[in-house]
Amino acid sequence: MGEALYRDGAAEPPDEDAVFERIATALADRGWCVVDEGLPPPLVGDLADRVRQLSTATFHTASVGRDQDQMHNAFVRRDEIRWIEGEDAAEQAWLAWAGRLRSYLNRRLFLGLFSFECHFAHYPPGAFYKRHVDAFRGEANRILTTVLYLNPGWAPDDGGEMLLYPEDGDGEPRRIRPEIGTLAVFLSEAFPHEVLPARRDRYSIAGWFRLNASTAERVDPPC
Ligand code: OGA
Ligand code: MN
Repeated sequence: MGEALYRDGAAEPPDEDAVFERIATALADRGWCVVDEGLPPPLVGDLADRVRQLSTATFHTASVGRDQDQMHNAFVRRDEIRWIEGEDAAEQAWLAWAGRLRSYLNRRLFLGLFSFECHFAHYPPGAFYKRHVDAFRGEANRILTTVLYLNPGWAPDDGGEMLLYPEDGDGEPRRIRPEIGTLAVFLSEAFPHEVLPARRDRYSIAGWFRLNASTAERVDPPC
């Protein structure tokens, strides 16, 4: 009898198109979804190793919008980030996976997603990101947010949950534990969210699918 390797007791990794279809259906129905084990666990493990290997010296304190006021930034968010450009095999495999998800969602939901930008994020103990939305109506070219968590054995009292509030408003948020392999996907304009302070180092990849924002002055590179 084969040993169960995956959380749902299955011996095989989840079929990629089945995962993409689950995401597409949830986005069409309600604009968000959380998938526990949507990516191949070996890839997620490599990304978790990668983010820990990258020296904290290469991470930058994240900035907020166009706000240059560092005092204000530190009040809003305390994470450190490093943009992912495909510099190693794990980064390339992740970008390729995101590219296939982009094509799937464009075929299935006609979203017109053009590119994907993403960064590793490290929240040291006590770090947080106050309630915000990832895009503003009007200037929005960020359409869809993804957050992939990279923390094995995250206990309920480690804190660090992402609170995902109901669309455009108030009410009880969903609490998403940043356990390794958990992927959250939601419409960037619609869902306010925040990151609670954690008691451990907390690692993730935040990513955004964008529309083509090219103008006469600025050509948006596809990636
Ligand atoms: C972000 C963000 C959520 C998380 O980077 O914009 O909201 O759980 N991240 O890391
Ligand atoms: Mn966000």
